[in-house]
Amino acid sequence: MVLTLGKGQLEDISFQLAVEVVGEILGITESDQQGKIRRIYNVLNASISKAKNTLLSKFWLNFRRVVHTGIFFWYDVRPAIKARKLQPKDDAISTYLQEGYSNTAIIIECLTYGSAGMLTTREFIIMCSWYMLEDENLRAQFLAGDDKTQLAILMEILRLEPIANKVLRKLDEPVEGLSEQTLPAGEKYDIDIRNINIDENFVGECPFAIDPERATKQKDTGRFYSFGDGPHGCPGWQVALHETRIFLTHFLAVPGIRMEREPDIIWNDMVHGYELRNAIVACD
Ligand code: HEM
Repeated sequence: MVLTLGKGQLEDISFQLAVEVVGEILGITESDQQGKIRRIYNVLNASISKAKNTLLSKFWLNFRRVVHTGIFFWYDVRPAIKARKLQPKDDAISTYLQEGYSNTAIIIECLTYGSAGMLTTREFIIMCSWYMLEDENLRAQFLAGDDKTQLAILMEILRLEPIANKVLRKLDEPVEGLSEQTLPAGEKYDIDIRNINIDENFVGECPFAIDPERATKQKDTGRFYSFGDGPHGCPGWQVALHETRIFLTHFLAVPGIRMEREPDIIWNDMVHGYELRNAIVACD
């Protein structure tokens, strides 16, 4: 669709890929592709939008959320549930059915995976493309690298430009030694991923440089804090990295590929992260 015209909007390309990959994991595979992407876009867009501080605006946003969730359920989730009841597959919806989840519980899971896995990967692919279309040396290093080097470069870009900027945690027990006073149990804290990821004590020297060897030097996987950590750490981190790596290996090798219009950077308070919009890529 995109390359036949010689140019395309990068967020459309990356979102389509992210929807297909997470859709396969969930088992949302029984509906038409373009319609599914449009419906998922509408439901997720409504769920991460913020209403103005008026009753009418709040009502309108809630109305949009309910309607788009209903449409998504009817055209995409319901057919998938029906198909998996007849013939289970190796996907999440089949597992939810085996475990007796209700329709409501299944749609909540689908929306959680949608915002956690589709929206994040959409931005990640755009950010990595931007970095590498701007920097010829980095792009050459990426294209010439083996899988390990390619993944290391992607993780370094994510370290500097984390999609999720903070995670929230509640203390189970009092913690001593972090500040003058003991931090009491039950207290909630924001963990600032962007700052942790550039802390020399954690990531080593020259924290603002992209260094594919950093993970080895620091004896880390290279994900640092970009995907969170602990029991609620991101379960899809390897999926996100691999799909991005495979896509970029082909995309960046297209002859004459270039960024015709750089993205606008928008801050989204609802997801505590950035969104990159209106980037146009073109090729000869
Ligand atoms: C570059 C892409 C991605 C980034 C930056 C990202 C980042 C994160 C972060 C920071 C968290 C919170 C972790 C915490 O609280 O410690 C998270 C949670 C989560 N992620 Fe990802 N993620 C990405 C892709 C994905 C993908 C592809 C999937 C699904 C296949 C996914 C599924 C989830 C789920 C389900 C959670 C909630 C886990 C829980 O609360 O137990 N993510 N992600």
